[in-house]
Amino acid sequence: MARMGIFDSAISLFRLLDPERAHHLAVWALARGLGPRFDGPDDPLLASEQWGLRFPNPVGLAAGFDKDAEAFRGALQLGFGFVETGTVTPRPQPGNPKPRLFRLTEDRAVINRYGFNSAGVEVSAERLRHRGAGIVGANIGKNKESEDAEADYIVGATQLAPLSDYLVINVSSPNTPGLRALQDRAQLSALITATRQAATEACGGESKPLLVKIAPDLTDEDKQEIAATVNETDTDGLIISNTTITRPAGLMSGDKDEAGGLSGVPLFPLTRTLVGEMYQLTRGKVPIIGAGGIAGGDDAYAMIRVGASLVQVYSALVFHGPGLIPRIKSELAARLRADGFAKLEDAVGADHR
Ligand SMILES: Cc1cc2nc3c(=O)[nH]c(=O)nc-3n(C[C@H](O)[C@H](O)[C@H](O)COP(=O)(O)O)c2cc1C
Repeated sequence: MARMGIFDSAISLFRLLDPERAHHLAVWALARGLGPRFDGPDDPLLASEQWGLRFPNPVGLAAGFDKDAEAFRGALQLGFGFVETGTVTPRPQPGNPKPRLFRLTEDRAVINRYGFNSAGVEVSAERLRHRGAGIVGANIGKNKESEDAEADYIVGATQLAPLSDYLVINVSSPNTPGLRALQDRAQLSALITATRQAATEACGGESKPLLVKIAPDLTDEDKQEIAATVNETDTDGLIISNTTITRPAGLMSGDKDEAGGLSGVPLFPLTRTLVGEMYQLTRGKVPIIGAGGIAGGDDAYAMIRVGASLVQVYSALVFHGPGLIPRIKSELAARLRADGFAKLEDAVGADHR
């Protein structure tokens, strides 16, 4: 607990720092085990099984915090039920020029245009090789200059599928030119098939859970085509969603018009609606991980009720610090109990019944 006090003070200090420096400092500290520990046993009500993996609780760390798989152990110790590393690109690349990360404090939001700064897949692979307990997913992408997207995802899958619990095809970051076009039906279908084949070969024939992470900025036709592709290709799950290139009305912060993807509280309504739509379009057949503006147990509960089996958090950590994680879990368990759910899974998609 003393450590918690120190860490909370540290969070206040972090806010005085340039946002990217604060991000690096947080990763540095977690990589050295300097974070607080909230990884005691979870309320059994929060446990669930997906893809044969037992999740002790449904609250995960979203991709983009631990891009190069440095801090996942420290992040698991904060009490996350799972951590997603990446997005990692095959070859190292620097990402966009700085500044490229902005805190929208009044809006409890973040804009980033990192552009896949990555140490490259081999660095992540080396770190994940000795990873220990806890569920760790690997989120893979393509290099900015690469002409052959499929080949890049094949490299990521080949290297990281054997070292991670699940694999995510990220086709939804707004900061790599052309990436979101890979959500188009024909391209996505080919990409999923090729990535699946590479992952299965790399795992000696064993099938690794393969998820696709989508953008919140989709037309109705896009949504239907993605749902059809998920069914056709036996995709194991969807992550909904990445950051938005839209700027919802009412943003107040000075940096609201910076280029990049917006995340945090203003994203929540978009993501929640999209989770509900995709749950219905896919008829609840594949687990959905809901991510976008979750900042408390009520948000996580709402996301689960519209169809998410698991959730992820990133931006709210910037404003609330690591104490957020145990708080979301206890609030969520209280809400489930109050509504008479004996287990988390019973609440998934409850709003549609
Ligand atoms: C600084 C920052 C970097 C991110 N980088 C990635 C990334 O590399 N890959 C990815 O799939 N999503 C990335 N995301 C998106 C998050 O994983 C998440 O989908 C999104 O921020 C919505 O959740 P939130 O509102 O809780 O932050 C990033 C988000 C932020 C704020």
